[in-house]
Amino acid sequence: MWIFGYGSLIWRPDFDWVESAPAAIEGWERRFWQGSPDHRGMPHSPGRVVTLIEAPSSRCWGVAYRLSSAATEDGTLDDLDDREKAGYRRLELPLHLNDGRSVRGLCYVAAEGNENFLGEASLRQMAQHILDSVGPSGSNVEYLLELATALRRIGAEDQHVFRLEEQVRSVLEASERQGDGQSGS
Ligand code: SIN
Repeated sequence: MWIFGYGSLIWRPDFDWVESAPAAIEGWERRFWQGSPDHRGMPHSPGRVVTLIEAPSSRCWGVAYRLSSAATEDGTLDDLDDREKAGYRRLELPLHLNDGRSVRGLCYVAAEGNENFLGEASLRQMAQHILDSVGPSGSNVEYLLELATALRRIGAEDQHVFRLEEQVRSVLEASERQGDGQSGS
């Protein structure tokens, strides 16, 4: 059994796997359009995390993990269902591994219209939302920066994520400069 991760499952899988490889899925795009009331935000102030949006001519890179055959019995899937419970549903999709293999795998997708779906916003709004959000799993900024770093590590190109990262970093740098200026005066 394979699991495809495209968000936090890329850089913090937190489950046992037998083998992993960078992999792509066809016809989907990664977008920071899902609300997170339980990991990177709170129920009254959800954070902003990724989901997949159907886009026929796109390809989305992530990491595929092969689970042991005991994954259903040992609770791995139950744990993943619990981790992704705020709007995500399992989908089975063809995965194209970077070594040329094609396998089928499970992927957690939060479909448009689920109760935590936030949808599109301007880059500036999404960046500010991420800067303002924190939840039981940590800050929303950490989620974005770790994801961008992990995508670069596997050689994945994703302008949506990288532009958001750039915007968040520039706000953080500006506020640091302001802080330095104030402490120096
Ligand atoms: C995933 O990583 O595959 C699902 C979304 C998330 O947990 O960030």
